[in-house]
Amino acid sequence: MKKIAFFDAKPYDRTWFDQLNQHYHIKYYEHKLTPDTISLAHGCEAVIPFVNDTLDRTVIDGLCQEGIKMIALRCAGYNNVDRDAARGRIPVVRVPGYSPYAVAEFTMGLLLTLNRKIHKAYFRTRDFNFSLNGLVGFDLHGRTVGVIGTGKIGQIFIRICQGFGMHVLAYDPYPVQDASFPYVSLEELLAKSDIISLHCPLTEQTRHLINRDTIAQMKDGVYLLNTSRGMLVESESLLDALKNGKIAGAGLDVYEEETEFFFEDRSDTVQRDTLLSLLVSMPNVVLTSHQAFLTNEALHNIAQVTLDNLDAYFKDGTVLNAVQ
Ligand code: NAI
Repeated sequence: MKKIAFFDAKPYDRTWFDQLNQHYHIKYYEHKLTPDTISLAHGCEAVIPFVNDTLDRTVIDGLCQEGIKMIALRCAGYNNVDRDAARGRIPVVRVPGYSPYAVAEFTMGLLLTLNRKIHKAYFRTRDFNFSLNGLVGFDLHGRTVGVIGTGKIGQIFIRICQGFGMHVLAYDPYPVQDASFPYVSLEELLAKSDIISLHCPLTEQTRHLINRDTIAQMKDGVYLLNTSRGMLVESESLLDALKNGKIAGAGLDVYEEETEFFFEDRSDTVQRDTLLSLLVSMPNVVLTSHQAFLTNEALHNIAQVTLDNLDAYFKDGTVLNAVQ
């Protein structure tokens, strides 16, 4: 059986991979893939990394030296891959869409939690505090939501918002044909939206898309949702805007420096990222640990497509779902 090194393994990953795997001896490592852990892939034919594993030139060189034949990402995003370093040397494949519903539904969950203050109510009633003071929200019906990125997740989030009776404005440099919602410029979206939700990938163009300048163009009291990638938002400017009320609330499933913290129990750590500590302490922030994808359906699809990607390659060299 071919050996495959699986990095950053969690119990919820193993459940589905163990159930669906027939052809491989998967070696599960809790460690992330970094220059220091490349040697764990020794003797393996492929690696299965996740969103916060390092796939820079050093790691890709190391994997090639170890004779690794394929990098099979078990995620959609591939901003952590140095594609120039991989090109022509080792195929990199991914799971392009495992459950866009999971992420879109979670995004609406963040918005409802934030706006209706369900996170606060939950703790109050457990403490037998049944006061409603400070829990006033607003109707989503009739509000304008600006959706940046109208791919698989963005389009489903838009349909959910339309179901709530919200007006949708969208921005995407590659608009979909015959859309049921209007596309506008980024400037118009920023200026007119009551809620802004990010559903675009992290690229050179989108890095820090939300920064001091773009925040200044937004309506006062806007809500910001980010379930895409942390680096889309410049955190210091976000924090300032949350403090001065320009941004009334933020629902964040990602954070720009999340790699060291997210997916792990760091509750006993005293060396905490200062910005992250400040963000989680804000009453108008709901921050989760890159959890939007985490449904049974998504985990099943991740395992199935990753194994299919490996099967196709090891059968006859077919590269499915290549990272371009
Ligand atoms: P997709 O590839 O189907 O759609 C992305 C859309 O963004 C495309 O329509 C593209 O044209 C657009 N886009 C590209 N550059 C843009 C720009 N400069 N401004 C605005 N739009 C731009 O991707 P999908 O599946 O909808 O995923 C979106 C993002 O969600 C992923 O890139 C990933 O970062 C994130 N994600 C987060 C998860 C989580 O658990 N929080 C899980 C899965 C994905």
